[in-house]
Amino acid sequence: MGFKTLCLGLFCVSFLSYIYTPIPDNIEETWKVMALDAVAKTCTLMALCLENVGVMRYEEFISMIISLDYTQPLSDEHVTVTDTAFVNVPVRLYIPRRTSEAPRRAVIYFHGGGFCFGSFKQRAFDFLNRWTANKLDAVVVGMELAPQHHFPAQFEDGITAVKYFLQDEILRKYGVDPTRVAISGDSSGGTLAAAVTQQVQIDPEVKHKLKLQALLYPGLQVIDTSLPSHRDNEHGVVLTRDIAIKLVSLFFTKDEALPQAMRKNQHMPVESRHLFQFVNWSTLLPDKYRKDHEYTEPVLGKSAYSLPALMDPRALPLLADDARLQHLPRTYILTCQYDVLRDDGIMYVSRLQNVGVPVSHDHVEDGIHGALSYMTSPLYLQLGLRIKDMYVSWMDKNL
Ligand SMILES: *[C@@H]1O[C@H](CO)[C@@H](O)[C@H](O)[C@H]1NC(C)=O
Repeated sequence: MGFKTLCLGLFCVSFLSYIYTPIPDNIEETWKVMALDAVAKTCTLMALCLENVGVMRYEEFISMIISLDYTQPLSDEHVTVTDTAFVNVPVRLYIPRRTSEAPRRAVIYFHGGGFCFGSFKQRAFDFLNRWTANKLDAVVVGMELAPQHHFPAQFEDGITAVKYFLQDEILRKYGVDPTRVAISGDSSGGTLAAAVTQQVQIDPEVKHKLKLQALLYPGLQVIDTSLPSHRDNEHGVVLTRDIAIKLVSLFFTKDEALPQAMRKNQHMPVESRHLFQFVNWSTLLPDKYRKDHEYTEPVLGKSAYSLPALMDPRALPLLADDARLQHLPRTYILTCQYDVLRDDGIMYVSRLQNVGVPVSHDHVEDGIHGALSYMTSPLYLQLGLRIKDMYVSWMDKNL
C-alpha cells in the first residue's frame, strides 16, 4: 500500500469520524437527519479549512452556500408577496388576497441563522411566512437581519422596523388590527424577537403594543456556557456547542479570544456576578432537564478583554430583570430536547412564569435545533412540518 493511499485512508477516516454524529433513538427519519447533519458538518469543515488557510472567513463561506437557497418574492393565488423596506430595513411582505371586512392580524417574523447568516429569502422561511399568512389570514412581515454586522446593529434594525410597522398610518395602510400584532422568531431570530419585544413593550413612543411573542428554540444568554443542554449536546446534531459559541461570538466581535474563553466558561468579568441569578440553572431548570448534572459556577474575572455587550439584555434577553419581564405579552416558547440552546428557552419559561407572564411551553422530545429550516425538498423533515404546525396553531388560537 502506497503512502498516498494510506494518507487518503487516514483522511477519509478522520473526515467520517468528524462528520459522524450518533442520532438518538427517538428521532424519526434517522437517515434524513444523518444526511442533513453530514451536509452541515461538511460545510462547516470546509468553511473552517478555508478560514484557516486565509481564503475567506468561515461566515462568508456559509453565507455563500445558504444564498444558493434564496427565493424571489413570488405571489401566488392566495398571497401577494413583495420585497420592500421599513425605513432602511429590508422586509418581505405577505398580504392575503381574499378580501377581508375586518382588519387583519399580523405577524413579524425574525429568521434564524446564528446572527451571522441567513435571510427571509431562504426557501424554508419563505414557505413558513407564506403558510402563516394563509393559515391565519394575517399580514406577515419577514424581517432581514443584517448578518454582516455586529451587535447592536440587528437589534436596532429590529426596533426601527417594528416601530415603523406599529404606527397607525402604516397599520391602516396594510389593513392590520393594531391590537392583534405578534412577533416571532427562531434561533438567533428568537433572541432578537425576545429582545425587541422587551424594548417595544416599555417604549413610550410605541402606542400599539405587541399582543404575543413566539420564540422557537431561541438562544437567550451566553454568560453560562455549561448548562446541562450544552453538556448533553456538545456534539449535537447539526449544531455543536463549539459552532454555537463561534457564531454567538461573531455576533459581538471577530476577536478570537472571546470564543476561546467561552469554551472554558471563563469569559465573564467579576462585575457580572449579579447577572448569574438570572441564568442559574440549578434553580431555574426543572429536574427533568437538570438530570444528574452538577451545578458549577462559571469562573469570573479571567477574561483579558472588556465587552460590555456581554452584559446587555438587548443581546441576551435572559439578563433582563424581573421588573422588565413583567411587561411582556403572552408568550409561546418551543424547545427541542437535542439542542444546545434548549435550557435557554426553558429558563425563560421559568422566569416569565415567576413574574406572572402567561407562557405556553411546547417541548419537542425528539426535536433538533433548526428543524424549521428543513421544511422544503429534497431533505425536508416531518419534524420541521410538525413544529411549524404547533407554532401556527398556537398563533391561530391566541392572536
Ligand atoms: C445558583 O443557585 C445555587 C442553589 O440555589 C446557589 O448555591 C448558587 O450560589 C447560585 N449561583 C449563582 C451564581 O447565583
